[in-house]
Amino acid sequence: MRSAESTGSTTEARATDASGTEASDTGPHSDWWRNAVIYQVYPRSFADGNGDGTGDLAGVRRRLPYLAALGVDALWFTPWYRSPQADGGYDVADYREIDPAFGTLADAEHLIAEARGLGIRTIVDIVPNHVSDAHEWFREALAAPPGDPARARFWFHDGKGPGGDLIPTDWVSSFGGDTWTRTTGPDGEPGQWYLHLFAPQQPDLNWSHPDVAAEHEAVLRFWYDRGVAGVRIDSASMLAKDPALPDLGQDHEPGLHPHLDRDEVHDVYRRWRKIADSYEEPRLLVGEVWLEDNDRFVRYLREDEMHMAFNFDFMSRPWDAAALADSIRATFAAHAAVAAPPTWVLSNHDVTRPVTRYGREDSSFAFLAKRFGTPTDLDLGARRARAAALLTAALPGVLYVYQGDELGLPEVEDLPEGTRQDPMHFRTNGVDPGRDGCRVPLPWNANGPTFGFNENGAATWLPQPAGWGDRAAASQESDPDSFLHLYREAIRLRRNEPSLRGDAFAWSETAPDVLAFRRGEDVTCVVNFGDAPAALPAHTEVLLASSPLQGDLLPTDTAVWLRA
Ligand code: GLC
Repeated sequence: MRSAESTGSTTEARATDASGTEASDTGPHSDWWRNAVIYQVYPRSFADGNGDGTGDLAGVRRRLPYLAALGVDALWFTPWYRSPQADGGYDVADYREIDPAFGTLADAEHLIAEARGLGIRTIVDIVPNHVSDAHEWFREALAAPPGDPARARFWFHDGKGPGGDLIPTDWVSSFGGDTWTRTTGPDGEPGQWYLHLFAPQQPDLNWSHPDVAAEHEAVLRFWYDRGVAGVRIDSASMLAKDPALPDLGQDHEPGLHPHLDRDEVHDVYRRWRKIADSYEEPRLLVGEVWLEDNDRFVRYLREDEMHMAFNFDFMSRPWDAAALADSIRATFAAHAAVAAPPTWVLSNHDVTRPVTRYGREDSSFAFLAKRFGTPTDLDLGARRARAAALLTAALPGVLYVYQGDELGLPEVEDLPEGTRQDPMHFRTNGVDPGRDGCRVPLPWNANGPTFGFNENGAATWLPQPAGWGDRAAASQESDPDSFLHLYREAIRLRRNEPSLRGDAFAWSETAPDVLAFRRGEDVTCVVNFGDAPAALPAHTEVLLASSPLQGDLLPTDTAVWLRA
C-alpha cells in the first residue's frame, strides 16, 4: 500500500492581479491561464477552408463553434508563418506574414478576434533557435563572404582538418545526423560550414548578436499587438551556444553544456517577460523545455521568466500507476519552488498518439525508440487513453489537448510509401517512422472523400486511413459514449466543479495498482491500472467515468470522478 499523503497546495494560492486585487476570470489582468484548457491546432491538418488539401485559417474559423463547444480556453497554433515547410513550419521565412497555404495576415487577425469573441484566446508559436534557410538574413549571409557581418547572425565556421573538410563540432542533431552543413562559395569551391541543431534548412541563430534579440522582441510585439494572448517558445533551452564551440566531451556542469540549457539563455526570457508584462492584459510565455533534470526545468519558470512549460516527464511515462504517481509527485515538488502551475500533456505534433502508445507493451515515449512494426492493441490503447484523459483533466494546473486526441485518433502508421514528409524520418535513413503519423488531417464527417476535411474532396496533404469516418467528429457527436463526449464532459466539469478549479490536492490510500486523489472539498479521481476490478471508495455520485463501471467496482484501465 502506498501511504496517504497530502501535498497541500501545489501552487501559490490563486494569484492576485497587478493592482493587488483578487484575480477574476473576466478581469483584464486575470490569471486565466492557471487552470486553463489549451487546445493545440496544427493548422495544416485541422480543417481545409479553401479546398486545396491543406488545412488553413479559413478552416479553423469555420470550426470555431466546435472548439467553443469543446470548452477550451485557448488555442495554440503551431507556426503559421511563411515557410517552405521543410519542418512543418518550424522553418520560418517571415514571421510577419502568414504562409499563403494557410491564408493572410487579415485572416489571422479575424481568427484571433472571432475566437476571442467566443471566449477563446490565441497563442502563437515562436521559433527563436533557428530560421528557415529561405529567411532574408540567411540568404544575405550565404551570399556574403566569410567574416562578413551578415554571417555573424548565424554560426558560420571554418571546418577542421586540412582544407577545412571536417565538421567544426561533433554535436548531434535531434533529427539524427550532423549539425553542420558546408557552404559552397561563388567559385564553386567548398566554403565555411553553418550550424543547424535540426535540419540543414533550419540554420541556428547566434543569440549573442544584438540583431537576433532585437528582431525577436519586435516579433513578439507584432503578435501581441494583434491580440494574441501569448507565445509558445520552441526549443526554448537550446538558444545559447558556447562561443568556443567545443566538442561534446563527457559530462558538463549544469549550465555549461555546449548547446543545451546554458545559463545565459535565461536572460532572453527575462527580457521577454518584461515585454509580456507591459501589456494591459499580460501576455503569456509557454516553454518547450525538454530537460531530464526537474530542477533545471523549473528554472525557466522563475517569477521573472516563463509562465509555464510543457510537462514532458509526465507525457513520456508508461501507463503504470507507480510511474505516473512518481511523475505527478516530482512535478508538484519541482513546481513548489516557483509560482508557475504544472501542466499536463498527453501528446503533441511530435509524439506518438496516446491511443497507439498506450496499446503497446512499452507504453513510454522516447524519440529514439520509435520503430515501424511495433505490435499495438488499439482497443486497449483507446481504453487507457480515455482513462488518461480523465486522470490529466483532474489534476491541478493547465491541461493541453492536441487536436484529434479528443476524437481518440490513433497514430497513422501505414502511410503510403512516398507520402511521408518529416525530416526526422529521412535524416535517420527511414529507421525512425517520423512524426507524420500524428499529423494526418482530421476527419470531420462520417462520409466523403476527405471525411469533411474540405468540401470539394481535394486530396489531403497526408492521406487519411479508410476507416476514419467512424472516428469523425460528426460520428462521435451522436454517440454519448464517444471520446468527444468524454472530453467535452470532462472539460465542462473541470470548469464548473469548484473542487476541480482550485489547487487543493491530496493522495488517497489505495492498492498498488490504483491511483486515487481528492481535489478540493468533494471530488475524488480514481484510476485502476491493475488487471482486476478495484473497489470504489465511498461516494454519493459518479460524476464521470472513462468506461462503464461494474456496479461498485472500477474495471481495469478505467478512471472515474466521484463526488466524495
Ligand atoms: C520543436 C517542435 C518540432 C520541431 C523542432 C524544431 O521540438 O515541436 O516540431 O521540429 O522544435 O523546430
